[in-house]
Amino acid sequence: MKIAIGSDHVGYELKPTIIDYLEELGHEVTDFGPYSAERTNYPTYGEKVAEEVSSGNFEGGILICGTGVGISITANKVKGIRAVVCSEPYSAKLSKAHNNTNILAFGSRVVGSELAKMIVKEWLDAKFEGGRHKTRVDMLKDIEERQTM
Ligand code: RB5
Repeated sequence: MKIAIGSDHVGYELKPTIIDYLEELGHEVTDFGPYSAERTNYPTYGEKVAEEVSSGNFEGGILICGTGVGISITANKVKGIRAVVCSEPYSAKLSKAHNNTNILAFGSRVVGSELAKMIVKEWLDAKFEGGRHKTRVDMLKDIEERQTM
C-alpha cells in the first residue's frame, strides 16, 4: 500500500518508528513532514497528508500529534477524508471495516510505540465490509456534499 504520513512536533519523535514498521510490513511510505522537532502546527501537516489521500495519490494516511485529536480534526476538513483517532486496536479495525476510514491518527502522548504499531497493523489488515455499512458511508458523503454546496 502507498501510505502518506505526517505529524506535528509532538508526534515527530514517534514517526520514524512507525515509518520503519510500515516498511517492514512491505508498504511504501512518504513522509510529508515536519522534518525536525521544531515547534510547528498540526493543521499544516494534517491538511497535506489529507490532500494526498483525497486526491488518490496515496491509498491511506497516518497522522501523529500529541493526542491525535487536532490532526484528525484537520484531516476530516478535507473532502473525501474519513479520519479516525484511535488509542486501541479494536476501534482502528472497526473504523476500517464499518466506516471505511482512509486516515488513521493517534497521539504520541497517549500511546507507546508498541501499542501504536498494534493499532496500525489492525487498521491496515482490516477490510471495508460494505453492505449496510456502505449505505451509511454513502450518507456521510451526501452530508459532505450538502455542507459544501
Ligand atoms: C501540541 O501542543 C498539541 O496541542 C498537539 O500535538 C495535539 O495534541 C493537538 O491536538
